[in-house]
Amino acid sequence: MREQTSREALPEEFRRFARGVERDGAPRYAGICRGIATDPWLLDLVAQAPPDQRRPNIILAAVHYLLLGGADHPLAAWYPTVAALHGQPVGATCAPFDDVDGAPLADGIFTAFASFCRAHRDELALLIATRATQTNEVGRCTALLPALSTVAKRSNGAPLAVVDLGTSAALNLHFDEYAYRYAMHDATRDAGRAGSRVMLHCDVIDGEPPTAPVAVARRIGVDRSPVDVRDDDSARWLLACQWPDHLDRFSLARDAIALARSSDQPVEMVEGDLVESLRRLVPTVPDHAHLCLVHTWVAAYLAPDEQRALRAEIAAIATTRPVSWLFAEAPYEVPELPLPLSPDGSGKSPTAVVLVEDGPDAPAPSASRLADMHSHGRWLRWFGLVGQGR
Ligand SMILES: C[S@@+](CC[C@H](N)C(=O)[O-])C[C@H]1O[C@@H](n2cnc3c(N)ncnc32)[C@H](O)[C@@H]1O
Repeated sequence: MREQTSREALPEEFRRFARGVERDGAPRYAGICRGIATDPWLLDLVAQAPPDQRRPNIILAAVHYLLLGGADHPLAAWYPTVAALHGQPVGATCAPFDDVDGAPLADGIFTAFASFCRAHRDELALLIATRATQTNEVGRCTALLPALSTVAKRSNGAPLAVVDLGTSAALNLHFDEYAYRYAMHDATRDAGRAGSRVMLHCDVIDGEPPTAPVAVARRIGVDRSPVDVRDDDSARWLLACQWPDHLDRFSLARDAIALARSSDQPVEMVEGDLVESLRRLVPTVPDHAHLCLVHTWVAAYLAPDEQRALRAEIAAIATTRPVSWLFAEAPYEVPELPLPLSPDGSGKSPTAVVLVEDGPDAPAPSASRLADMHSHGRWLRWFGLVGQGR
């Protein structure tokens, strides 16, 4: 469960965030957040967010949203995403930012940021008070494809009914419409839909992830705040929640949104809590389809008792029909979910990919740690169906 931040704790929250994003290769946001930590007016603005949104991301997204919408201000020149969105060459309009250690550069972007916020205070106050940050990380499909391919292989030819819990904009339900390039040892392997406008790259550190095509009977996304990417404003907000320093991820999200808008694969969206929605949804999935419940980077939002409720709900479903439960979550966030250790004993991993198989004929649920992965899918350590456990 995400912690809530008081006004007093905000300066340290921004400094901590700055250190983290600097490690993640985001010097612009590091410079901005260090500046915000020293600016009481900006901190008061952030404090207007609902308690569960009182975090650096909300003001960063709100400013990015206005810039992507065309707000005219010198700050725009510091954001390569703004140039990219308007089809301009990034280098031509983006302020120089090649020395991330130089204080003047960090000061420069923050000075422009602070001036922008004062010029747009009313619009920002409204966005901060009413919006929630939202992400949908398409890169995770580099782990989902082999994991779903594994499920498909074990479903005795039945097409999958894939239910993505905490689906956000449901971009990952289009996993089979993306092109993949896996770098494996000395070779590369291409998979997915050749020529797709969404091209995902992944370094395979260990193992051989299966990439056979997956037959999908139904695609259902569940979210308490679903994002409709066909709506221009929702799509802009989703893009605004990306970081301007990570132009590659921003471009990927744009391409995935464009693909989803033109896709002929029907995706059903259900608004609501994931456990409650499951209860209503599952009886609508026909028996000829194999039920596959998926969640990626969602359990962090669930308190331990909600994680237990999800586990119990899936166990109840398994008394009525075979079910595969596939999740990719940070191990420290999921104390109440089944989590076998990595078979290679590597211990800590940003994200564990786990498959739990259960059903009326199974003596007990079996959990396999299929893989460890980078949280955005940049690398994969593939174990497959070994290491079954709790
Ligand atoms: C970090 S995003 C991950 C989105 C997507 N699964 C991905 O990997 O890119 C978490 C999503 O879970 C949703 N969520 C969190 N708790 C939920 C709940 N109890 N019921 C339904 N959706 C929930 C949020 O609205 C958000 O869209």
